Amino acid sequence: MSAAPTATTGVGVIGCGAISAIYLSNMQRVFNNVNVVACADLDPARAAARAAEFGVPRPLAVDDLLADPEVDIVVNLTTPDAHTAVSLAALEAGKHVYSEKPLAVTRQDGSLLVEAARARGLRLGCAPDTVLGAGLQTCAREIDRGAIGKPVAALAMFLYHSHERWPAFIFRRGAGPLFDMGPYYLTALVTLLGPVQRLSCGASRPFAEKPAMLGPDRPGTVRVEVPTHVSATLEFAGGAVASFVATVEVWEPEPFRLRVYGTEGTIEAPDPNSFGGPARTFFPGAPSWTELNLLPNYGQNSRGLGVADMADALRTNRPHRASGELAFHVLDVMCGLVESSETGQHYTPLPTTLAPPRLNEGPF
Ligand SMILES: NC(=O)c1ccc[n+]([C@@H]2O[C@H](COP(=O)([O-])OP(=O)(O)OC[C@H]3O[C@@H](n4cnc5c(N)ncnc54)[C@H](O)[C@@H]3O)[C@@H](O)[C@H]2O)c1
Repeated sequence: MSAAPTATTGVGVIGCGAISAIYLSNMQRVFNNVNVVACADLDPARAAARAAEFGVPRPLAVDDLLADPEVDIVVNLTTPDAHTAVSLAALEAGKHVYSEKPLAVTRQDGSLLVEAARARGLRLGCAPDTVLGAGLQTCAREIDRGAIGKPVAALAMFLYHSHERWPAFIFRRGAGPLFDMGPYYLTALVTLLGPVQRLSCGASRPFAEKPAMLGPDRPGTVRVEVPTHVSATLEFAGGAVASFVATVEVWEPEPFRLRVYGTEGTIEAPDPNSFGGPARTFFPGAPSWTELNLLPNYGQNSRGLGVADMADALRTNRPHRASGELAFHVLDVMCGLVESSETGQHYTPLPTTLAPPRLNEGPF
């Protein structure tokens, strides 16, 4: 990826676990407009190790990172249960924030973060930024230009079966297939079809306990706190109605992830947990699918693209794309799905003015 050198924005990473490697690699080596100046973790050894691995000048304690004047954007890569506290502390320290998904675990906490950022004139952004990748942006462009006509329906499916090597947190509050994988599918649907206007949901928890890893090399059994099979109907403001399934209870050898059906044809999007393709279209009368040529940028694993876009947006004074408003809408929808499954009622998401993300800038 080549881009003209630009002024860089200082980034501080909090949370130096598994996903931090690809963020640090991309922010230090791929994106030219950000520079990671500090990193922190509850476990100082992890911060020190990541700093050494990726040339981050200052492994710090969390409070010291928040006080560091060279940190403009805090990238919050902690576990979901810590997202709200870490993001809020960063906003209160006057930093812009980009968080891993989900934005928060409850609607109330998500709203707190959106308001805290707004009140201070700070940016709030959130993963997934896969929707800014070549695959989903190509699909968005095709739908926008009317290639499949008017969207009338969509199917989005995360179909999986859990196994005993999975980490125990997957079955705890704030995770499960809905909160862990749902953000990719729901953010992709909102990117392609606009905000959700109304929803309903059925959900189940077929097993009270599941085998899982309680720690490294510690197999055991965990209590299942969340639904592990979720089946939703989502009505979009533009008129399309989607069926969305997020499950870790099924054996499915040939899953597809996301299809949008229009009045003139069908588009199959790539895995929403990826930046690239393949993406393809089908039209009546055609003998088979046609693979789409993808947009040129960000077909590789570009985690951190949302941060680079935020840095560019700060410099050029425009909205950033993987926004807090988008992530809050997705959180509101996820909470609504759980509530609908419990009450048997439809849920109407809170009003939103979010613009489905279209990445027109870059490469960064
Ligand atoms: N692992 C993946 O493949 C993956 C992929 C995409 C997104 N994510 C998301 O990224 C986030 C992190 O996931 P992970 O897999 O890297 O988890 P992880 O458990 O490997 O790492 C999280 C790190 O955050 C640190 N931490 C927790 N609370 C903290 C706090 N209050 N202050 C400072 N540090 C704290 C932990 O010590 C740990 O090192 C999650 O939101 C997850 O949903 C993970």
